[in-house]
Amino acid sequence: MIDAPDSGRPSCGGCTRRSVLVGAAVAVAATTAAGCGRGDADTAPARVPLAEVPVGGGRIYPQQDLVVTQPVAGDIRVFSATCPHQGCLVARVRDGAIECACHGSGFSISDGSAVRGPARKPLSARTFVIEAAEIVVR
Ligand code: FES
Repeated sequence: MIDAPDSGRPSCGGCTRRSVLVGAAVAVAATTAAGCGRGDADTAPARVPLAEVPVGGGRIYPQQDLVVTQPVAGDIRVFSATCPHQGCLVARVRDGAIECACHGSGFSISDGSAVRGPARKPLSARTFVIEAAEIVVR
């Protein structure tokens, strides 16, 4: 097929029916693989090395929606990193509190309770086990 320059249709120099079909198949395969990858990540437990969590503080893992704290040595707590006020991810752990930068709420590193508003509800506690030197959150 020869595209006439004034036909009003987009030109596809060198395209064949076969190349178009192969391209479409590759696009579908890439989309499917990306979807499968996300699904696997959602079901796999999050693993945090114990050594990463400071005593008297904590660490935020935004990709896993987690805040892991250690109020005193050996006492691990795990919460969702999603602020119960309006859903921002909490931003930092400082001076015994988990802080949300969106509107200034603060939460206890010990039990996730709101210690400073506007949030009134606590951070959601997450279930976890400690295996070897890792915190495993399901
Ligand atoms: S969303 Fe966290 S304080 Fe508003």
